[in-house]
Order: sequence, then structure tokens, then C-alpha cells
Amino acid sequence: MPKWLDNAVFYEIYPQSFQDTNADGIGDFQGIIRRLDYIRELGCNAIWINPCFLSPFGDAGYDVADYDTVAPRYGTNEDLKQLFAEAHSRGIHVLLDLVPGHTSVEHKWFLESMKAEKNQYTDRYIWTDNVWEAPENMGCLRGISPRDGAVALNFFSMQPALNYGYYKITRPWQQSPEDEGPRATLNAMLDVIRFWLSMGCDGFRVDMAGSLVKNDEEGKGTIALWQKVRTFLDREFPEAAFVSEWGEPDKSLQGGFHMDFLLHFGPSRYNDLFRCEHPFFSSEGRGDVSAFVKKYRENYDKSEKKGLICIPSGNHDMDRLARLLSPDEMKLAFGFLLSMPGAPFIYYGDEIGMRYVEGLSSVEGGYNRTGSRSPMQWDNTANAGFSSAPAEKLYIKMDDAPDRPTVEAQLTAENSLYHEVKKLIAIRQAHPALQSRGEIEFVHAEENAYPLAYLRSADSERILIIVNPASRAESFESVLPEGELLYSCGAPAKKEGSAWMVPPCSVSFIKL
Ligand code: NOJ
Ligand code: CA
Repeated sequence: MPKWLDNAVFYEIYPQSFQDTNADGIGDFQGIIRRLDYIRELGCNAIWINPCFLSPFGDAGYDVADYDTVAPRYGTNEDLKQLFAEAHSRGIHVLLDLVPGHTSVEHKWFLESMKAEKNQYTDRYIWTDNVWEAPENMGCLRGISPRDGAVALNFFSMQPALNYGYYKITRPWQQSPEDEGPRATLNAMLDVIRFWLSMGCDGFRVDMAGSLVKNDEEGKGTIALWQKVRTFLDREFPEAAFVSEWGEPDKSLQGGFHMDFLLHFGPSRYNDLFRCEHPFFSSEGRGDVSAFVKKYRENYDKSEKKGLICIPSGNHDMDRLARLLSPDEMKLAFGFLLSMPGAPFIYYGDEIGMRYVEGLSSVEGGYNRTGSRSPMQWDNTANAGFSSAPAEKLYIKMDDAPDRPTVEAQLTAENSLYHEVKKLIAIRQAHPALQSRGEIEFVHAEENAYPLAYLRSADSERILIIVNPASRAESFESVLPEGELLYSCGAPAKKEGSAWMVPPCSVSFIKL
């Protein structure tokens, strides 16, 4: 695992909405470069940028039309190269977003594969062998090509599935991952990886990483495929970092990923924390963290510390944290996010509590996700400093609430969420026990009960975290001794006799 992941704290940038520099209403690479100091100042030392390649943008760029060329609206390949260099000079690593499962229908591979005559792209996508047969359990496009067949869809209707083969073959047109077509698809993807890593990129977040091989219920075929990628990376790019959108660390880490996200879908129970009817982090105190912890423990044990389990504050697909939690509740949520093992990921704007913008019409395939993708709010100038374009030209409408949070206002307010997040990152960076690979042992995580307490440790350093989002005092019995208070938000927890007394709405970090 690359050494730099030991204390990595990531910042996710949705490039459309971060910073516009040429007044076209859409964010760009020069905008990201301009804001690198802000990111560094917050304490983050790595960024992940959502897909920024040539695309018709039917799914915000997750429909790639050319993997090797950036979308002109963000700049040129040279601008991106400059971004890598500017980031590196500030100690920031940069992950791009790799979309290996599908392309746009406009990709030249797909245009070639639609032809009736056989060519080198005929097997690049999953096609049935006659237009009347649809692939099982998947959507398809048919009647659009001279080729007689139906092509499988991976996500939206303009995202045909690339062919990495079938784990269990049940139809004559299904190929094995070892067949020539699927092998060529994988090699083409390795070329894309090589292209950007050679240019200075530090790794990839991988879209839908767990579903490349089809008919593969237990993920064995897909794991085997990623192990091949791992062999390639170990040989050519051992320092490159890979994080999967998979949500099942027991599988992805076996495939050779360094990190896997817990997500709003899949078995992780991540939603129990911040996004359900009674989130654990709500002060109403009706949440239940026990199922999350049980699953987390299982994953942690199964992954045998081969890699990191990453818990994001949010992302471009989920509701903003602020849709369910108040700024004070978010402070405690960050107290948790920034003291867990694995590399934390902060979704742009979550550090100031940017809100989900209600009532927007869908932009570029965002649908309900559009409200979490609105422009970053920097200051009190026009369009909150995001762009000098007329408001109606902005990529997505700004949050126009008069009390919307901005970076500028939160920098001045001492008790802001921004300052709490910054403080927490600094404490994490100063204590190996709190970083990616420090161990975790859960001390208190009972069903329907508060608080959550866990012990982080590395070498001889031991730090007890006690977090009580509920608006009532709680306590729990524990043999763990009293220690030195490193940090608290709300009143600090205290040991009285054999019990820890935990004030309402508080998080404490105690060095034992
Ligand atoms: C997951 C991405 O995060 C999401 O935004 C996208 O729509 C789908 N994958 C399809 O690529
Ligand atoms: Ca722009």
C-alpha cells in the first residue's frame, strides 16, 4: 500500500461546481488550481475529481466518449497536467475517476461495435447474437445498429456495458473473461490507467468496480479481474492508489484495491449513521449504530488489514449531510468520520455544511442527486464567488437561501463547522493512532443505545473516542482508565468510579 495513504484525508471535487474561472458558469481545472491552497489550509492532502473526460454529459461525465482527452469545458490535458504539478507542490495527491464498466454511446469503440462487419471492437461490449434476445437481468439497447443483436446496459440507457466476460456462461453469446474480446477490453482499460498515471495522476477512484464481470454473484470473477490489474500496478505503478466504488471491502480489498467506500447502497449499514429516518447522529437520540458496527467489524476482520475501509461524509450521489443533520450534529458526525480508521473522504462543501438544494430540475442525469451538486459557496460576492457568469447561466442553480453557509463567513466565525473540521483533521494528522492504519476496538456500541465508544491505537499510543449525539446524558461501564483530554466538542466525558459519564451532544478524544 502506498505510504502516503497512512495519513491521507481526501476532498472530493465535483468539477462542474467547484470554481469557474472563465465565466461560462461551469467549474474548470484552473478553478481547482486556484482553490488548492484552500484545500491544503483545511488540512486535506488528497483530492478525488469526478470524471472530467470528453463526454456528452448524459450522466455528468460518467458516460465517457474518450478516456484520454479531457472535456474542453474543464480545460485541456495540459491544464490537468498543470493541476497535478500544482497539487504535488502543495503535498496534495490527485485521484481521477475511472469508469471501466461502460462508455457513452458516442465512444468510437461503441460506434465500431455497432457495425455489422466484424472488426476489432466487435466484442468490446456485451452483445447478444440476435436483436430479439435481450441479455438476462440487464437493460439493453436494440434496433439502433446494423449489427444484429442487443447490447447490454450498465446504468442509464446511453451507457452500454463493456465486455469483461461472464463468470457463469448460460448463453452462446456470453464470453469467458479469458476470451480474446474481454481480455482486449481489460488491456484497453490498462492503457487508460497507464496514460494518466504516466502524466502525473496519483491513482483512481473506480466507478462500479464490483460489477465488471457478469453473472458473478459472489464476485469471484470480478475479484480475479482486479487481481490482474493489481499485478500490472505492482509492476508499473506501485505508488498509485486505487479506491473502489464497491461497498464490500471483504471483496474489493481481496481484489487488490487499497481502499473501498462504504456507501448508501450495499450491505454496510452506512445509512444508519446519517441518512435514514432516525440517524444515529441526530440529537433526537433514536438511532441505532449497532448493525453498522457489527458489519464494520466483520469487514475489518475479513479484510485482515490488507486495505482501508473509507467512510465518506457524502458524495455526488447521496443527499447532503445537511439535509438530515444540523450544523451542531454535523460537528459530531465529523468527530466520528475523522477519528475512524481508513482514509476519510470529505465531499466538497460538507466542511461548511452546504445544504441540499430542494426543488431543482435534473441537470445532466442528476435527478434527485442534483440538489447535492450545487455550486460551492465561497463568499458574499455574486454567485457566492463560484462564477462571474450571469446567475441563469450557472451549471446548477446556487443555493439562494439568505443564510446559506459560505467559506468566508465560516472562516470569521470561530465556532463554525469549518473550524471544527479543520481542528479535527489537524488532530488526526498529529496522532498515528487516529490515522488510516491505527487499530480500532469498539468499546460501547449497543443496540438502540448511546454513546458510541471506540479505542484507536498505534504502537503505544491509545486514544479513546466517545461520541454521544443524543441530547441527553449517557453513561457506560468500562475498565478503561481516565486519561488526558485531547479534544472535545460539547462538554468532555469524565470517568466516575467504574463508569464513563457522557454529556449530551458531545464527542471526546481521550489519550490513555
Ligand atoms: C456511480 C457514480 O458515482 C454515479 O454518479 C454514476 O451515475 C454511476 N456510477 C454510473 O456510472
Ligand atoms: Ca469555466
